[in-house]
Amino acid sequence: MSLFDLAPKESSSALFGRDAEAKELTRLVEARRWVVVLGPRMVGKTSLVKAVRNRLKRPGAYVNLWGVRSVQGLVEGLISGLNESASLRARLVRAARRVDGFTAGPSGLSLAAPRAPLRTAWDLLDLLGTEKRDCLVVLDEVQELSATSGALLRLLGNVFNTRPNIVFVFTGSLVGLSRTLLEPTMASPLYGRAPVAMSLGPFDRGTSAKFLAEGATEQRISIPPAAMEAALDGPLDGTPGWLTLYGNHVAVRRLSPDQALQETVREGKKVAAAELASFLANHDARLYWPALKAIATGASWASVRDYVSRGAGGRVNDGTVLRVLRALESSYLVRHAEGRYELVDPMVLAYVLEAGRAPATARGRGVLR
Ligand SMILES: Nc1ncnc2c1ncn2[C@@H]1O[C@H](COP(=O)(O)OP(=O)(O)O)[C@@H](O)[C@H]1O
Ligand SMILES: [Mg+2]
Repeated sequence: MSLFDLAPKESSSALFGRDAEAKELTRLVEARRWVVVLGPRMVGKTSLVKAVRNRLKRPGAYVNLWGVRSVQGLVEGLISGLNESASLRARLVRAARRVDGFTAGPSGLSLAAPRAPLRTAWDLLDLLGTEKRDCLVVLDEVQELSATSGALLRLLGNVFNTRPNIVFVFTGSLVGLSRTLLEPTMASPLYGRAPVAMSLGPFDRGTSAKFLAEGATEQRISIPPAAMEAALDGPLDGTPGWLTLYGNHVAVRRLSPDQALQETVREGKKVAAAELASFLANHDARLYWPALKAIATGASWASVRDYVSRGAGGRVNDGTVLRVLRALESSYLVRHAEGRYELVDPMVLAYVLEAGRAPATARGRGVLR
């Protein structure tokens, strides 16, 4: 697999510049610690967990939860994940004969009749737990299941108590369920045994430059130094996903480095708009959009409050400003560094600076909450 391949990397040899992170994640999983890999979109969360999973070769499943909002969706993902490996499939099929409601055929487990999804998810994990070895279940983008938090936490608590050989690795941004997992309240089944948080950040400039240079060599192309500088100075800024897309545009689509950069930024801003729209679908755009605008221009706390007040149509208090900033921080849109707030993702910054108004939300919501 080449560095400029757009799919998530699946092996440690394909993974660039993440040796320390891969080693740490491997170590934690081997020590049976559950982990939440946190970070913004395109930073390489899926690539990291897939590479580690493929290196460990544990029985288990990888489930991509993007767009999955129900336990039923999780069940479907688990079934297809568990059926993926032929040897595991054969063993599970044998074990499932003792459990009502599953049929087991040559293509693996399936559901015989409609069953309560939570119960089914539990049965599946319980079956997996009969494996003699340690198992690994990856739930990618776990924040998607936030609406089912209570049920899912009970399920996970049960697995933790009764199947110590099953280790979970989650990925997500620090919202909803990922936060509930990492900061369990006393009432949570995971209280006192929260997963370990692992944050994935952008590449530093040196690593980014090496990434582009190695990718170019692999493809037998060259990116002139000036073009390289331009790419590294712009909003690609250390994000592996954008560097990959840029490299792919040069090497595969044969765009000039200039065009490739423009095209990458154009696509990046589109992703940024979609991400903001999805955030604003659940947050009052009258407060949050002006806050984003203020932060994009490097505004001080006082002027963030002014912007937000204007949006709200009346003076807001510091508590409101703080709440707005905290919500933006937990969603990885904004970070607080050296006494000021800034937008995390340069693509989001580029979008917010240019856009006249908040991106339209999918279902025309966006205001109120
Ligand atoms: N460490 C890495 N080495 C090489 N390519 C990477 C790395 N991290 C991410 N990529 C590439 O960047 C893009 C986004 O990666 P992905 O793992 O899907 O990120 P995320 O899950 O955080 O959104 C993919 O094209 C992937 O191949
Ligand atoms: Mg991903």
